[in-house]
Amino acid sequence: MAQFDNLTVLDHPLIQHKITLLRDKSTNTKDFRSLVGEIAALMAYEATQDLSLIDSPVETPLESTTGKTLAGKKLVLVPILRAGLGMVNAIAELIPNSTVGHVGLFRDHETLKPVDYYFRIPAEAADRTFFVLDPMLATGGSMVHAASRLKEAGAGKIVSLCLVSAPEGVAAMRDSHPDVHIFTAALDRELNGNGYILPGLGDAGDRIFGTA
Ligand code: PRP
Ligand code: URA
Repeated sequence: MAQFDNLTVLDHPLIQHKITLLRDKSTNTKDFRSLVGEIAALMAYEATQDLSLIDSPVETPLESTTGKTLAGKKLVLVPILRAGLGMVNAIAELIPNSTVGHVGLFRDHETLKPVDYYFRIPAEAADRTFFVLDPMLATGGSMVHAASRLKEAGAGKIVSLCLVSAPEGVAAMRDSHPDVHIFTAALDRELNGNGYILPGLGDAGDRIFGTA
């Protein structure tokens, strides 16, 4: 999207197909949860394209050779609770030696501001890349707060993965954290008066956990 330097919209056909199924109000909890994981894994594949590699010696059954492995300390997957939890397992299967941090936030229904209730990330944060996971980037308040907490804790590089984003949230991130790149599967039209993304997919947490 030309208007947002901090955003990459992942328009791979498989991602777009699955996002449409996710939006469908008739998609049940089981399928919704599966789709969130499938899309998250496809997004992670795209978002990790520029990870650094180092040469690594390896013995094949036939001879010695030099392969490549990921450089540096283990990546950190950071779901924003609770809906971000729906994205973690599928990405962790793709990156088995990743670690997992947690940021606990919920949006106050009146003010739409994030309320912070939990924060835990691995040590040696300065040397690590953090992938912050949240299906929804609406006003951006939650992602802005999560990135601020990670920076206060000394995080090295931060990247955001959001399934559906509103222009308002992308702009809020650009203004507060221009160094944090966002990968999204869909840039939607706008927010409604209650801070829900339009056309969106409804309340991601409720649809993942069946609490609607
Ligand atoms: C949702 C969503 C994001 C946040 C996005 O979480 O998962 O964390 O809202 O909105 P924002 O960009 O306006 O901050 P919610 O607060 O509903 O909590 P939950 O995941 O526990 O349901
Ligand atoms: N959180 C959600 O789960 N959905 C929205 O549309 C906005 C915030």
